[in-house]
Amino acid sequence: MTKLMTSMMVLALSAMVSVANAKATDSIEDRIAPVGAVCVEGTECAAAGKAVAASSGPRSGADVYNTYCTACHGSGAMGAPKTGDKGAWKDRLAKGFNKTLANAINGINLMPAKGTCGDCSDEEIGNAIKYMSN
Ligand code: HEC
Repeated sequence: MTKLMTSMMVLALSAMVSVANAKATDSIEDRIAPVGAVCVEGTECAAAGKAVAASSGPRSGADVYNTYCTACHGSGAMGAPKTGDKGAWKDRLAKGFNKTLANAINGINLMPAKGTCGDCSDEEIGNAIKYMSN
């Protein structure tokens, strides 16, 4: 009888320990998860309730610009056409908006692809260009 009880307790204890271990692993994984990981609706992380608020349409040019483009285009760093410099933007846009947009999407010289906004849609990049050139 005592032997049975002891083995039952050992079983129960080891079950508890493994649950606790699983929990510890979960929280460590949460803590070391990459910052800014993108959680897309319909994926596992979204099902876990971690989805970023579903985007309510394309971000505005100002939003995209202030987050991603201002670093270079605010100051004109590395020869980037400066925000609000109508002359510089007129020259850039002379080849057509779509060509300029394509250069922004694909990157050109020191201009990184999508201006580092990897999850920006083409439309959002376009919005940022319109914002900078006005
Ligand atoms: C790391 C700096 C940097 C960031 C960040 C950056 N740009 Fe640029 N961008 C440049 C530079 C430098 C050029 C000039 C490239 C050249 O023509 O040599 C440029 C040029 C451009 C052009 C002109 C392309 C052409 O056809 O002449 C557009 C449009 C543009 N950037 C859009 C954006 C947008 C939109 C963002 C933000 C989403 C952005 N950039 C973020 C550095 C940057």
